[in-house]
Amino acid sequence: MKKMITVVLVGAGNRADVYASVSLQSPEKMKVVGIVDPDPIRRELMRERYNVPVENCFEDVSEFVKREKFADAVINGTMDHLHVPTSIPVLEKGYDLLLEKPFAVNEAEMERLVEVARKYKNKVVIGHVLRYTDFYRAIKQHVLNGDLGKIISIETCEHVSYHHMAASYVRGKWSSEKICFAPMLLAKSCHDVDILLWMMKETQPTQVVSFGSDFQFGPERKPQGAGTRCMQDCPFVDECIYSAKSNYLAQPRWGQYVWKCLEKNRNLTQEEKAESLRTNNRYGKCVWDFNRDGNVDHQAVMFNFANGATGTFSMIGGCAKPERNIHIVGTLGEIKGTFDDSRYILRKMEPNGSYIGCLETVYDLNVSGDMIGAAGGHGGGDQKLVYDFLDYLSGYEPSVSCATLEDSVISHRAVFKAMESKYNNTIIKI
Ligand SMILES: NC(=O)c1ccc[n+]([C@@H]2O[C@H](COP(=O)([O-])OP(=O)(O)OC[C@H]3O[C@@H](n4cnc5c(N)ncnc54)[C@H](O)[C@@H]3O)[C@@H](O)[C@H]2O)c1
Repeated sequence: MKKMITVVLVGAGNRADVYASVSLQSPEKMKVVGIVDPDPIRRELMRERYNVPVENCFEDVSEFVKREKFADAVINGTMDHLHVPTSIPVLEKGYDLLLEKPFAVNEAEMERLVEVARKYKNKVVIGHVLRYTDFYRAIKQHVLNGDLGKIISIETCEHVSYHHMAASYVRGKWSSEKICFAPMLLAKSCHDVDILLWMMKETQPTQVVSFGSDFQFGPERKPQGAGTRCMQDCPFVDECIYSAKSNYLAQPRWGQYVWKCLEKNRNLTQEEKAESLRTNNRYGKCVWDFNRDGNVDHQAVMFNFANGATGTFSMIGGCAKPERNIHIVGTLGEIKGTFDDSRYILRKMEPNGSYIGCLETVYDLNVSGDMIGAAGGHGGGDQKLVYDFLDYLSGYEPSVSCATLEDSVISHRAVFKAMESKYNNTIIKI
């Protein structure tokens, strides 16, 4: 069995860095040997961090693939619409691939990628990190063990916090399909649709219907008297829940997005940050002044399955607390849990002599479900996915959690069909 996997980062941004950091934790398992990124600042930052030779750094994938293959795999952390165009050349060159989600932004390019990966027989894993968390793995194990019997219904939901909503889907890189080519259901919740369909893997989704809208944002909902930039001319700067001052200056949660435009000056002072928000940083603009081009802030999706089971997923952006819930009801029992609390209840039907009712077992996994908590990003899912990818490349069978490309096609197709349903206001066959 091979011990060390060498990787090239294509798109040396936030996500590639998260995955690449496994090479610092476990240098005997993984080594970053190349970088492809058109941004010289990102390229140099990551080159220094991972000690990559200058001659292995490239501005463009086309330059990179001109070189003889010099690594086992590529980690592709480019933005959503670049996933397919930057992956096809590396697959053709024979690299295996860890590719961020959503791996494609429409059905046509999804099919193209699948065709190329089939032709060149590459191992391709998609960044569905939630599958690797202790919470979802444990629930999946109950499903596999048959603890619930046959699943009748599955309900899941994702609450996107108001500050995450603003940083990513209103002011941020995923605000509009015109910018990122992915509607919010795809960009944010392809993870959740993947989890739902992964739990239902014994059957297939056959129909979908979906509704959603933008309920809270857009210039027409801007509070009267609000300014154009929070820290420049807005009287509500100290009370608005979306104030750039409280969201970005007072605490660092979304810094990786907000200070990208100032990346060249390392170690920014608070005054430099404040000046940027007051003047030309898009995160300093009033949250209601963005044109989201019809992107939703909440969306509901309902699935029908081949065996008669049903499923629902609800994504709600702008909530007080980020939270993912799941409720699976089967013929022998049910599971209800909250990912962010890392806690679920298993209820089993229990006709026992004179007693009829249910037996409840509470599973407290004692892992921070916090997306950036002590367990690591996404409740520890980020790191576990990388270790699993390395094992897969070393010749081990794909784990239960492993989302291969073929596997991920199921949830991506379901999301594309859900969007078709929303746009056409009709039930769509999957
Ligand atoms: N799995 C998850 O839970 C999760 C979480 C957040 C984001 N994501 C996904 O990860 C991806 C990356 O997000 P991010 O926040 O890290 O983005 P980012 O902007 O930090 O990184 C993208 C990098 O790609 C580089 N780039 C641009 N064009 C390129 C090209 N032609 N070739 C190579 N590199 C190029 C950019 O310069 C940048 O450094 C997105 O698709 C996003 O949806 C996944």
